[in-house]
Amino acid sequence: MLSEARAAGLKFELIAAREGDKLPFHSESRVTLTPGAFRAATQTVTPQGVIGIARVHEATLSEAIQAARAARWPLIVLDRVQDPGNVGAICRTAAAAGAPALVVLEGSADPYGAKAVRASAGIVFRLKVAHAAWKDLEGLEGYGAAASGGAPLSEAPIESAGMIVLGSEAHGLSRKDLKLVTVPLTEGVESLNVAAAAALIFFEVRRRLAA
Ligand SMILES: C[S@@+](CC[C@H](N)C(=O)[O-])C[C@H]1O[C@@H](n2cnc3c(N)ncnc32)[C@H](O)[C@@H]1O
Repeated sequence: MLSEARAAGLKFELIAAREGDKLPFHSESRVTLTPGAFRAATQTVTPQGVIGIARVHEATLSEAIQAARAARWPLIVLDRVQDPGNVGAICRTAAAAGAPALVVLEGSADPYGAKAVRASAGIVFRLKVAHAAWKDLEGLEGYGAAASGGAPLSEAPIESAGMIVLGSEAHGLSRKDLKLVTVPLTEGVESLNVAAAAALIFFEVRRRLAA
């Protein structure tokens, strides 16, 4: 994760390694902590042996929109996706599929929170990530991903959409006026995990953009 962050251009203010653990790269700003001090400083139960502190540049909404347009990708929008594990997994998949930018709406977990960063394996730092509200996205046409009732994924022109919106784990999409896209499921199965739905949709966008 630290190597990913470094490769994405982050400058570390401090790297703290647990006594006996190795850093993946040389750093001037390194300190070593005893196992007890290290345990007290981490937020996880079974931490890896290194903690990094870096300042992140969060993108503005217009930077995120510009990046998406330049790559001819829809802007990815998270509408109250609350589980940081899901948010991190979506960031990782978005970057893997080639999406350059992601926007999180109020009520979503912070992609730069520690758990989300870990779930993204540090890949989140490659994306332009911005926070916004629905009113900031006025004028951006797009598709909302819905567990049911949308156009089947194979038929919806999602690759030319201005945005693709993923909804909350418990309540789905908060806006009711979006065009909808649905990954058809076997009868009796209600919905996909939001990160799984995102993966199918993003890689379908990738496939079509490459065709
Ligand atoms: C667990 S689902 C939400 C289910 C929720 N009960 C509802 O009312 O929609 C979380 C999100 O994953 C996405 N999702 C889940 N299944 C999907 C599917 N089959 N096709 C497209 N998106 C899906 C949607 O964005 C949805 O809002």
